Amino acid sequence: MACSSTYLSSLIFTLILLLLPSHKQACFTSIFSFGDSLADTGNLLFYLNNNHRVSQLPYGQTYFHHPTGRFSDGRLVIDFIAEAIGLPLVPPYLPGGDSRNFEKGVNFAVAGATALNNDFFKSKGIHVNWYNNFNLDVQVELFKQLLPSICSTTSECEEKFSSALFLMGEIGGNDYNNPFFQGKSLEEITTFVPLVVNAISRAITEVIELGARTLLVPGNFPIGCNSAYLTLFHVSNNEIYDQETGCINWLNEFSQYHNQLLINELQSLSKLHPHVTIIYADYFEALMTIFRSPEKYGFQSFPLSACCGGGGLYNFNLSCYCGDLGSTVCMEPSNYVSWDGIHLTEAGYKHIATGLLQGKYTNPPLITQSCFPETIVDLHDFKQYSS
Ligand SMILES: *[C@@H]1O[C@H](CO)[C@@H](O)[C@H](O)[C@H]1NC(C)=O
Repeated sequence: MACSSTYLSSLIFTLILLLLPSHKQACFTSIFSFGDSLADTGNLLFYLNNNHRVSQLPYGQTYFHHPTGRFSDGRLVIDFIAEAIGLPLVPPYLPGGDSRNFEKGVNFAVAGATALNNDFFKSKGIHVNWYNNFNLDVQVELFKQLLPSICSTTSECEEKFSSALFLMGEIGGNDYNNPFFQGKSLEEITTFVPLVVNAISRAITEVIELGARTLLVPGNFPIGCNSAYLTLFHVSNNEIYDQETGCINWLNEFSQYHNQLLINELQSLSKLHPHVTIIYADYFEALMTIFRSPEKYGFQSFPLSACCGGGGLYNFNLSCYCGDLGSTVCMEPSNYVSWDGIHLTEAGYKHIATGLLQGKYTNPPLITQSCFPETIVDLHDFKQYSS
């Protein structure tokens, strides 16, 4: 008999997922999200009047079958989380218009957003997307302005937010992408990291003061495995590459430096706010797991090249982006991690989200929060499954 305990545990886990919808009321009742293109579900595209490459197929081709403003072929981590806890996909804030219904949450994430504000980059001679006026402090400000339409008194807001899940990020990636792509030195960019982490910390503190009780805060991707970075920092000297994955070590070390400072900060914040659950989401490790053994997770054996792009070793080409005339799209996006060289495929995001929901890559685990009723999740069984 091939009935191993792993099989049994997966069966239990599947049962848990099947049972979930009937227990929605014990779960998070809303999702509020802040971040950049990894979480943008349509804000930038609306703001730019559809005047952006993601307004065209192949963006959106896999799941929605039309462009939605997501920088992917399908769903993002935020979409998978919303689905798993039985909430509607989180509506983007900007296209909300007058008929706003943000009862179950709202998404302020805007592609291109940075944690630090534009003045900082200006002062360093770094070009950011000037059309993008939705950096983290602005997103938090928009949230504050929206409060009267969500809840009318401080205590009503606190009550409402106590059962809400706050997604704070990913944010900060663009604070580094812009200077790295503009040739700023590693030494200079490294000095930005404590400031970026500080900006994220301030945003977290603000939403906690408004009543947030559960926050999920993702770290940065391993940028040394990113098709765009691999292309721009390509060298013929093999020594800079990780032998096992082909990723660029010094860039991944930079991501880990950011992540370590972020983790330290989240620990301090947790001590300051013991009644709040602040969960670190390890996007770095979630992706490294794929890059170390891609085939084990259903990805093609060379996972560093993009599904959609304008050619080159990693199918990323600065003069021919995904969607531009002359770019090509792979046959099977679900075999790829990288969608357009910078952002992930739905399959890539799904791997991260599934891991987060299973309690891998999160500390403390998201699944032990109010979302999953104790009657259904026997944590003992669950721990066996995820270990
Ligand atoms: C990048 O795109 C340009 C413009 O389409 C093209 O001329 C060039 O050959 C491409 N580079 C690679 C490596 O495919």
